[in-house]
Amino acid sequence: MSLMIEGGRRLSGDLTVQGAKNSVLPILAACILSGDVCVLQRCPHLEDVDTSIDILRHLGCAVRWNGPDLEVDSSTLTRWDIPDRLMRRMRSSVVFLGAILARCGQAELSYPGGCAIGARPIDLHLSALRTLGACIREEGGSLNCTAPGLTGAEIVLSIPSVGATENAMLAAIGAKGVTTISNAAREPEIVDLQAFLQKLGASVHGAGTSTVVVEGAEQPLHGCCHRILGDRIAAATYLCGAASAGGEVFLRDAREEHLSAVTAVLREAGCDVQSGAESIRLRRDGPLQGVRPVRTAPYPGFPTDAQAPLMAALTRGKGCTVFVENIFESRYRHVDELSRMGADIRVEGRVAVVYGVPRLHGAQVRATDLRGGAALCAAALAAEGQSVIAEIHHIERGYEHLDESLRQLGANITRS
Ligand code: UD1
Repeated sequence: MSLMIEGGRRLSGDLTVQGAKNSVLPILAACILSGDVCVLQRCPHLEDVDTSIDILRHLGCAVRWNGPDLEVDSSTLTRWDIPDRLMRRMRSSVVFLGAILARCGQAELSYPGGCAIGARPIDLHLSALRTLGACIREEGGSLNCTAPGLTGAEIVLSIPSVGATENAMLAAIGAKGVTTISNAAREPEIVDLQAFLQKLGASVHGAGTSTVVVEGAEQPLHGCCHRILGDRIAAATYLCGAASAGGEVFLRDAREEHLSAVTAVLREAGCDVQSGAESIRLRRDGPLQGVRPVRTAPYPGFPTDAQAPLMAALTRGKGCTVFVENIFESRYRHVDELSRMGADIRVEGRVAVVYGVPRLHGAQVRATDLRGGAALCAAALAAEGQSVIAEIHHIERGYEHLDESLRQLGANITRS
């Protein structure tokens, strides 16, 4: 599948941002803990969500869509293994490990797949689970885990890993006693996971700070209804798209407090950004300016997931902008594709220097990974002439109807 974009049209209009991919994936794993029916409202329909559904069904859960809501009944769960073909489909399959261990006391799976953006080890996940008493044997790419009795413990993460924090939270629900996770990731999606776990009846506190405290559930948990947080990275992508193409967009279900590192840079680049309680408006009329160095960092720093879309917009920024990618080691695979559109970008290790060019031109490019693919769309919106973006399955792992959303904002885009 590919996207065809006729560039050079300003964006204009409003859009409701999808539910957050990075929220819904750990929450789908957490549904297992309830042993009951959970309803996830505003569940985005994404490739990665389909993979999670396939995993849940493999485990014996009943899952069905009801309009935009997803219902998961985990009372019928019978298995604790995830086949390699499902594990390979996405990185987040690994968060099922903590949930399965907590529910079943054992788990069998293999190493996860995901976007090729550099080495993505799971050592912190495994070490956190071992700290809780899990016995994990790693043999030939498979993980055999047994945890007849997990025990609450102090887990200190050497890096505030989002996935390891989530895995530790999920496993700790099944542990006896109190678990403290120090140097926890502080992303809004961790707060959303906590809110969901609390609705199941679990005792979890501190998400959003560096210390998360989980009390093992003594009572059985129960089902709940939960509305998934708006996707701050999808919001950032649409803002960067509008910054790139020019025009005015109004995003609902987007909170600037979750995106302040991105909006600060967009303002510096010359965009007018206004925010309401649950909305953000961006307007860009004049030329874009290069900005001070953009360094990716764990939340609340500049999100690595927004690096590529912002870079796409700043390819036409006056002057030059330095990017420093501190989270993933090879997250500049979009650069060669942007260069095909006329961008002038030099990469040296973790640093990319973008020299603004007056114009981009349409080209045949290919999505290299999820956010890199979204960045190509942002660039193509501003490029003169037609761009064809191939291999959009990467984009569809994380964006719900990106083509329809951009069309709603006035872009000339078709999917074929
Ligand atoms: C999550 C997000 C992803 C985002 C990333 C960083 C989801 C589904 N995905 O990914 O969109 O780009 O956070 O904000 O929420 N690390 C280790 N060992 C581990 C785990 C991580 O060394 O066991 C390293 C990683 O290689 C990386 C850094 O820690 O350099 C951060 O990764 P992490 O926060 O775990 O990212 P993910 O949870 O995979």
